[in-house]
Formats: sequence, C-alpha cells, structure tokens
Amino acid sequence: MLIVANWKMNSLRREGIDRARKLRLLSSEKELSCNIIVCPPAHIIHEVRQALDGSDIGVGAQDCHFDDGGAHTGDISVKMLADLGCTHIIVGHSERRQEHFENDEIVKMKAKKVHSEGLISIICIGETKEEKESGKALDRLHDQLSNSLPETINSINTVVAYEPCWAIGSGLTPNHKEIEDAHTVIRDFLKRTIPKTKPLPYVLYGGSVNGNNAEGLLQIQGVSGALVGGASLDPTDFWKICQYAETAVNLKNS
Ligand code: 13P
Repeated sequence: MLIVANWKMNSLRREGIDRARKLRLLSSEKELSCNIIVCPPAHIIHEVRQALDGSDIGVGAQDCHFDDGGAHTGDISVKMLADLGCTHIIVGHSERRQEHFENDEIVKMKAKKVHSEGLISIICIGETKEEKESGKALDRLHDQLSNSLPETINSINTVVAYEPCWAIGSGLTPNHKEIEDAHTVIRDFLKRTIPKTKPLPYVLYGGSVNGNNAEGLLQIQGVSGALVGGASLDPTDFWKICQYAETAVNLKNS
C-alpha cells in the first residue's frame, strides 16, 4: 500500500513544519509497513523533508515542468525537485488539468521527464461529473491512460491515481462497485503495458478520502493506496488512514 498526502496550496512554513514533525512523532510510535509520501507546496519541501528526517516518510512534489530548465517563469524542474529530496512527483492532477489547461500530451511529457530523472510519477486520471452522468466514465479513464502514460512506465517508476474530479474536495465518493470497476480498467490497461513477469504499479484512489471512510475504501479490490487532499492536513486523521492501509494489506493477504 502507498498513501500519499497532497497538501495542495496550503500552509506557511511554520504550519507545514509542525505538521511534518507531528507525523514523524506518530510514525515513531507505531511502525507501519505501508509506504507514505508527503507532497507539500514547493516552498517548504526542503524543510518538511528535514522535519521528517529519521522517519520512513518520504517527500514528493505536486507538479513539475517537462523541460530541464531555462526560460519557464514560475516553473520548477524535476532535477530541482530531486535536489530537494523528492522521490515522487504528482503529474496531471485534475486541478492542474482544469486551472492550467494541462492536457494528456503535457502530462505525458511531464511523466516522461520524471522517469528520465529516475523519480516516480504519480499520474492522475479521473472523469468529470458530466462524463460520469453520461455513462462515459470508464471510456474517459481508458482515453486518459492511453494518452497520458508515456512508454517509459514500469512497475517501479509509475503510480496511477484514480481521482474522479467530482469527488475531490466535495465529501462525495463513488460507491465501492464504481471504484472497483475503475480500478479494473486501470489494472487491465497496465497489465497490457507492463511485462507479465513484473508486478503492477500501485493504483491509488483519491477524492474525499478521510479517517472515517478510508477503512472501507482501502479494502476495495484493486485499490493499493490513497491520494489524500484535505484530510492530509490533519496529521491525526492522515495517520488513521495510514493505519487503515495496514489493516487492508493484512486482510487482502489473509
Ligand atoms: P480531497 O481529499 O480533498 O478530496 O482531495 C483529493 C485530491 O485531490 C488529492 O490529490
């Protein structure tokens, strides 16, 4: 299981560092076997990484540019993020797709750059409310997978996150059957792309995951973790989600 915290555009330095320290403390009280990555906003990645030093919790970034460097005002390169200690980079988040007009082609270039620098891309896909209501959700996921995943993906350098746009920050989640169906589409696609001898990448669910619903969501067939927004700002709630990931692994293995 992999649990990823996406802090989005939240927290000044003090608040971010305090939250990271709290997480480190929680993690020192009980060791969990699931992997945990925190993606703070770029201005505090370095300090959050320092605050998490000595724990197994890693740091990631929320976005990157697809170029190595140069005249891209306001952007940040994969190399720069690696330099800050990031191991994972989220690409194609629906907020980037909507607010910054990023299409599948751009997402694919970003993911490719992440791989070329030896980091792990967390590639987000998900249908809009309109696509869901018109019965096109699974077709949309298939299109996004075909067009956003570069040929460089493998079992290790890629994580796919299924985040229905309408579930993000809304308190709404798809029902368990809908999540299972979406994850089946994603896993079938990955099975056709990744050599049979290799394990499949993590496939995360994201969208209004919190300490109250994570137990059920993480037990859904095909779900191998969560991408958590709002609830990741509360270390106690976030840690509860991580603990449910541990329970889900044990149940799935039993
Ligand atoms: P919420 O957990 O706040 O719905 O956000 C989900 C998300 O966008 C994580 O990337």
